[in-house]
Amino acid sequence: MPLLSVKNLSVEYKASFGVVKAVDGVSFDVEKGEVFAIVGRSGSGKSSVASAIMRLTDIDGAQIKSGEIFYRETDLLKLSFDDTRKIYGKKISMIFQDPQSYLNPVIKVGKQIEEAVKVHNPKLSKSEIKERAASALKKVNLDDMQRIFNSYSHRLSGGQKQRILTAMAIINEPEILIADEPTTGLDAAVQKQILDLIKELKGKMGLTLIIITHNLKIAEKHSDKTAVMRSGKIIECAPSKEIFKNPKNEYVKQLTNVSYSLPEQMP
Ligand SMILES: Nc1ncnc2c1ncn2[C@@H]1O[C@H](COP(=O)(O)OP(=O)(O)OP(=O)(O)O)[C@@H](O)[C@H]1O
Ligand SMILES: [Mg+2]
Repeated sequence: MPLLSVKNLSVEYKASFGVVKAVDGVSFDVEKGEVFAIVGRSGSGKSSVASAIMRLTDIDGAQIKSGEIFYRETDLLKLSFDDTRKIYGKKISMIFQDPQSYLNPVIKVGKQIEEAVKVHNPKLSKSEIKERAASALKKVNLDDMQRIFNSYSHRLSGGQKQRILTAMAIINEPEILIADEPTTGLDAAVQKQILDLIKELKGKMGLTLIIITHNLKIAEKHSDKTAVMRSGKIIECAPSKEIFKNPKNEYVKQLTNVSYSLPEQMP
């Protein structure tokens, strides 16, 4: 049985001009321990798939029109509100595309990290919570931990914020980590550091990773399997070696031939 199985998922947004079919009948399986990449140009529906897995579609103003998302035997789309709290942040967590909007600007970073522990472990003492927060920060190799702990997020660099979010995402030792464009907006050296870090954590913690990116090089280099999305559909899903050496779909052939980073104007 796959660890995560998405079946016939469709997601829509209501826009002023009509309905946007962001995800249109998408199915895929992710096996335990695998690195699964979702690639595709901007607007192809990658983040909407992640929102549905994380049950964040209501917050995004999206509607799930059809589908099932199994985490082991549990259909995530049927969870009660109380049960979602047992899964998200604990078994499945996510590093978001835009770190600043997921850090609270008026609460010190350290407090937010401790809160992420507390929500899922209400019985831990203050010092145990502090210890866990410190150990998560250590895992993401943040120098100058004490200062960062006592800072507000706007005082931190992009790479530091991305590390903080990574620390918060792994703090309760999830089984599945979804990373949505974890390196966008970071310079090349920091991008590499963050990717190396995620892979290192995968090795240490036995994580199953879903990496969402428009950068085909990242998918080719770091994933076992790749799904290529176009206009809300998965047009090819195969072992990454095949996708990048011997793609079947014409569009995927063009992408992998023409360029490694998808140009925005690509149809
Ligand atoms: N909150 C929203 N309201 C209305 N439409 C939305 C909303 N979020 C996304 N969309 C639309 O849904 C489609 C898929 O968007 P999505 O963010 O999933 O794409 P993406 O592949 O993650 O793109 P990117 O690479 O730019 O992050 C797009 O057409 C987008 O305009
Ligand atoms: Mg996105």
